[in-house]
Amino acid sequence: MPVEIILPCTMNSLIEQLRNKFTHALTTAFGSAVEGIDPIVVPASNPQFGDYQSNIALSLSKPLRQQPRAIAEQIVQHLDVSGICQTPTIAGPGFINLRLEPAYLEAQLSAIQTDPRLGVESIKTPQRIIVDFSSPNIAKEMHVGHLRSTIIGDSLARILEFQGHDVLRLNHVGDWGTQFGMLIAYLRVTYPSALTTSNALDLGDLVTFYRKAKQRFDGDEEFQETARKEVVKLQSGAEDSRQAWQLLCEQSRREFEVIYDLLDIHLTERGESFYNPLLPDVVKDLEESGLLVEDTGAQCVFLEGFTNKEGQPLPLIVQKSDGGYNYATTDLAAIRYRIEQDRAVRIIYVTDAGQANHFAQVFQVARRAGWLTNEVQVVHVPFGLVQGEDGKKLKTRSGETIRLRDLLDEAIARARADLEARLKDEGREETEEFKTHVAQIIGLSAVKYADLSQNRNSNYIFSFNKMLSLQGNTAPYLLYAYARIQSISRKGNINFDEMGNNIKVLLQEEAELVLGKHLLQLSEVLRELERDLLPNRLCQYLYELSQKFNQFFEQCPVLWSEEPVRTSRLVLCNLTAKTLKLGLSLLGIGVLERM
Ligand code: ARG
Repeated sequence: MPVEIILPCTMNSLIEQLRNKFTHALTTAFGSAVEGIDPIVVPASNPQFGDYQSNIALSLSKPLRQQPRAIAEQIVQHLDVSGICQTPTIAGPGFINLRLEPAYLEAQLSAIQTDPRLGVESIKTPQRIIVDFSSPNIAKEMHVGHLRSTIIGDSLARILEFQGHDVLRLNHVGDWGTQFGMLIAYLRVTYPSALTTSNALDLGDLVTFYRKAKQRFDGDEEFQETARKEVVKLQSGAEDSRQAWQLLCEQSRREFEVIYDLLDIHLTERGESFYNPLLPDVVKDLEESGLLVEDTGAQCVFLEGFTNKEGQPLPLIVQKSDGGYNYATTDLAAIRYRIEQDRAVRIIYVTDAGQANHFAQVFQVARRAGWLTNEVQVVHVPFGLVQGEDGKKLKTRSGETIRLRDLLDEAIARARADLEARLKDEGREETEEFKTHVAQIIGLSAVKYADLSQNRNSNYIFSFNKMLSLQGNTAPYLLYAYARIQSISRKGNINFDEMGNNIKVLLQEEAELVLGKHLLQLSEVLRELERDLLPNRLCQYLYELSQKFNQFFEQCPVLWSEEPVRTSRLVLCNLTAKTLKLGLSLLGIGVLERM
């Protein structure tokens, strides 16, 4: 059941102001007949028609029993957009078109030029939001799926934080469950000192041991029994098992930390084990609500809307016949804890699309148990697969899962090679420090941006060549636009920060007007993102900004023009740079002053 998204009262973006004005005009013209109707003001589909449009007159024709054109005329009569837009026009059968007043745009741009938030107001009623992301599994290698979750989750958290929300970033690591029984049982015979001394293994070894343990588990019944006993021993808190588990977790954690540091992404670890003590209570609560049914020894909740091939309702198992709990039980405990203890009103789960059913089931049970109410919004933010250039799931040449460390290192190494080739072409000498820094920023930004710039619902093809290209919708293209603006300031010996404030901005040329309008759309984009949680919208916005800036820069001389145009154009340059920097920071990407 889709939950209506309730957005808290927030910044008044331009489009919202226009919407309010439309609503006012509608009610003045038609009274209660149009109460609660959304005037559907949207950006114009074609700049020829203006900047915004509303087709509301067409959809009101039936209920009001009037010609759409006549309705449009009455709306326009009552529509007061003076000071913001030129006189509204009506086109075709009744489309209402609005074109922004250059003077309004000029005033807005002047007003935001020294505002660190660039005119984006922060939320008036902040919400407690949990973003559950990254969440790799201990003793298993972090794979590209976790990379996607890490990058997307971090960006969503940054955007919500920027808007002023109180965000808790949670790493729901898989640090509990049967894999430990297997691993501990296996290490007890093959490498016992790994269970008692720190640093005995690195994650690579751990993964190999895990793989071997799993092989043995799958083919050896006696070993299965031993592994199960180890799980029970661990869960009942036996000292040596706890210690072994702790050591294994630490080893994985150290390795994960390296990746988080490299990506500059930080979150709070609250793994599955955290909820372990709460699991019996979850089951008890479900029992008391009358939701629990025993089915061949297992405790289940029968789901609504989930059926097997025969049309029978599917069960969600919350306690297995051997008394053990599972992934779903832990998520039930987690959702309950997050609502009752963390007091979250929005919980966002960033995982691959393959877990959509899992979350739909957990949400349903939590709702029926009464833990999840309409005051709380829960969303699964799914994403597609990362594919190799052959269109198959991304793997190494020998068919293994790619280690994230290797992937990031390769991105940096390739960025470095590109940079050196460019320096050579341009006959430039740079220090080692410069090269290392630039290669690192470009390499990592390219990986992050390639992921974020795709609609996350689709699969995407991982291509180093594409993501590192200076052309197209890539991180290097945006970083280059930023660096280009900084070079203007260096060339003109201008300190952007000391230009003063409230400088008059003039939008006389078409390219200036186009750029100016785009600069003022940031709040709109962020507002949309808060609702749809699609970072590719922000990428697209920044990409278009760079394109519009480049057009402006080709058509309008900056340093060589006369005052007051020169200063006004410098302000446009600076605003573009600041918008790029802010936007990129919300994607987890840092800028370069030179590259
Ligand atoms: N550890 C899981 C995996 O690797 C992801 C956990 C996602 N979060 C959650 N609350 N279930 O697939």
